[in-house]
Amino acid sequence: MKISTVPIPIIQIPLQKNIQLFLKREDLIHPQISGNKYWKLFYNINSYLDQNPGNPVIITFGGAFSNHIAAVAALGKEYQLKTLGIIRGEELQYKWQDNPTLKLAHQNGMDSRFVSREEYRDKDFLTQILEKEFPNALIIPEGGTNERAVEGVQFMLNEETKSFDYLCTAVGTGGTIAGISRFAAENQKVLGFKVVDDQSLYDKVLKLSAKNNFELVEAHDGKYGKITNENIRFINDFKDKFGIQLDPIYTGKMLRKLFEMIEENYFPEGSKILAFHTGGLQGISGANELLKKQNRDLIDIN
Ligand SMILES: Cc1ncc(COP(=O)(O)O)c(C=O)c1O
Repeated sequence: MKISTVPIPIIQIPLQKNIQLFLKREDLIHPQISGNKYWKLFYNINSYLDQNPGNPVIITFGGAFSNHIAAVAALGKEYQLKTLGIIRGEELQYKWQDNPTLKLAHQNGMDSRFVSREEYRDKDFLTQILEKEFPNALIIPEGGTNERAVEGVQFMLNEETKSFDYLCTAVGTGGTIAGISRFAAENQKVLGFKVVDDQSLYDKVLKLSAKNNFELVEAHDGKYGKITNENIRFINDFKDKFGIQLDPIYTGKMLRKLFEMIEENYFPEGSKILAFHTGGLQGISGANELLKKQNRDLIDIN
């Protein structure tokens, strides 16, 4: 993978307050390996390929709508690497064609194995089995989070991002915020918007980042993947007002909570805030299919 030369715009979101909010459009970095996924995979893939494995194979884990699975499959296609996705939910083996993420991953050449939720939980055991079966493979953890991923996140920061007081990102497995925290400038505070109700995340991020310049805020609406009507309204309004598409699982939740915090005067007057748009837009069609079945309002796509 190359250091992307795509210029990443930083766009101001106008507010009626003496606070400046900007969005860094990491989602534009690649049409399918978008946002933080690109950077979390960057050193993982490059160091693996540098070792010249014969028959390179990338194996990773994810749920039915996983942005990370979508990104790894697209990467496999682009760099002609075999990919295998270990997918949570054995029932999906009979209906993966109905799931836009899994269907696209398949079109991009990814093989899939569907495992029960119980088996999926024991990833250490699954990994041991996979290591035996594919001794040359690169096995990347769920969400792509590991030490190399954290190193790759440094490319989301640059001279321009140094002028902000706060750096904000959605948090799933913690690799992205760990990288932002590690590579942030001394005076910057990092805010992570947890979209997973996981109380162990703070310690995990602290271990990966080795810095305590970050704070985690709950933004999950009860559990990972839950899409409330308020969330849908916020995403659609945001698009109407600012012309930027958000996703319902990560960036929509982050910005809704961030707007609430701005409203509640969490940030001192004059603060300059930068939120990272980490992509995840591929998940909208799957989310809309579920919403349609539930007779609910949909997320506007076009
Ligand atoms: C769109 C989006 N935003 C944020 C995140 C959170 O990243 P992390 O799992 O590194 O916390 C993810 C997961 O990779 C994601 O897909």
